[in-house]
Amino acid sequence: MAVRERKKFREMGFDEKMGFISEINPGFSDASKETMRNWSSAAVPEAENHVTYQKTGVGIIPGILVNGKRYTPTMGTEEASVVAGASNAAKMAGKRGGFRASVEDIMTTTGQIEVVKIPAEKIEEAKLEIERNEKRLIEMGNEATPNLVAAGGRILSITPRVIETRMGPQLIINFEADCKDAMGAAATSKMAQGMSPEIEKLTGGEVIVMGKVISNLMLGRMVTVDATFDKESLALKKEINGKMVEISGEEMVERICYTSAWGEADQFRATTHNKGIMNGIDAVGLALGQDTRALESAAHSYAAFGRPYTSLSYFEKDANGDLHGHLEVPIPLGLVGGATAINEQVKANIEATGCKNVPELAMLIGSVGLAQNLAALRMLVGEGVTSGHGSLHRKRVEEAEKLKRAR
Ligand code: MEV
Repeated sequence: MAVRERKKFREMGFDEKMGFISEINPGFSDASKETMRNWSSAAVPEAENHVTYQKTGVGIIPGILVNGKRYTPTMGTEEASVVAGASNAAKMAGKRGGFRASVEDIMTTTGQIEVVKIPAEKIEEAKLEIERNEKRLIEMGNEATPNLVAAGGRILSITPRVIETRMGPQLIINFEADCKDAMGAAATSKMAQGMSPEIEKLTGGEVIVMGKVISNLMLGRMVTVDATFDKESLALKKEINGKMVEISGEEMVERICYTSAWGEADQFRATTHNKGIMNGIDAVGLALGQDTRALESAAHSYAAFGRPYTSLSYFEKDANGDLHGHLEVPIPLGLVGGATAINEQVKANIEATGCKNVPELAMLIGSVGLAQNLAALRMLVGEGVTSGHGSLHRKRVEEAEKLKRAR
């Protein structure tokens, strides 16, 4: 039977669900299926000062098309409407070819080194010294991470800047490193350590120990996503509080464009607009053992990078009267180390998702972010938060209560 003719994903039994994922993603192993079935016995590391584990439901989008490939991303969230909304939006985008996503050819991690105590009259010359010695410093940084270099990673560039602070001028050295499938915090810290003695010699300043760190504003991790949502699918016809609400596709496109424009112009709205995007990005991130605070800080910082804080995406009407959505957001991720190396549930969730490397995963997560964003806007200008968002939440609360009573 073709996947499309099947019953709804949530109505399937566990084995059917596993079969569905395998059909889209043949790499989904039996071991991961068993981990999902017996999740409570999976090896999951304890927290420091451990007292208990916290359960979060993990759902999937049953098929989201990104650059011509179908994925089944796992999402961990306390907000039931997040998975439902993203799944629905993914289906809509699928009718117009799905999501078109791109990343830089090499996704980089940004490292930073803080050099202090350079006299103000010598700091511009110190900056030039760093620029003149870029190649040598890169070699020193790379020597500090031989394993990464063996895997093809390396520092690509070094950019010194003089900044004014309340403690006087400082020389801040940013460097961009290809950390392959790692997030890169440990690698860039080692690179910074490798370069620091020479930096002190060249500048006459002092690199303070804690001043060697990544920047979470990672412009080398930018993801750009575009999608078209057909107007017919956007139309709404639903009974809400005993009243039939009917909004045509054309009207929906117009309303979403108005609300998108609001977000572009008003920080109060942009913050919540971006929260809608992060509902999707964080949910996949959480299920996949990613640092959700890194995802959040990168996105919100970029929303105010060189401009007043604004929305990360916009929607506009295209030539056919359909809705075109565009998102630009940095998505820092790692698929080696951290929870991805030791948490069996995370490993199973990654496998179910169907991604093989960080760039592919970043494009998938960005697409989920745009899908989530569209779903939130459609709900806002259509049935409203209390009906759309709230009714599903109430349903899930009732189900949880029922489960508790059954025990
Ligand atoms: C709620 O979790 C997210 C929304 O507020 C996002 C938005 O307003 O765009 C619905």
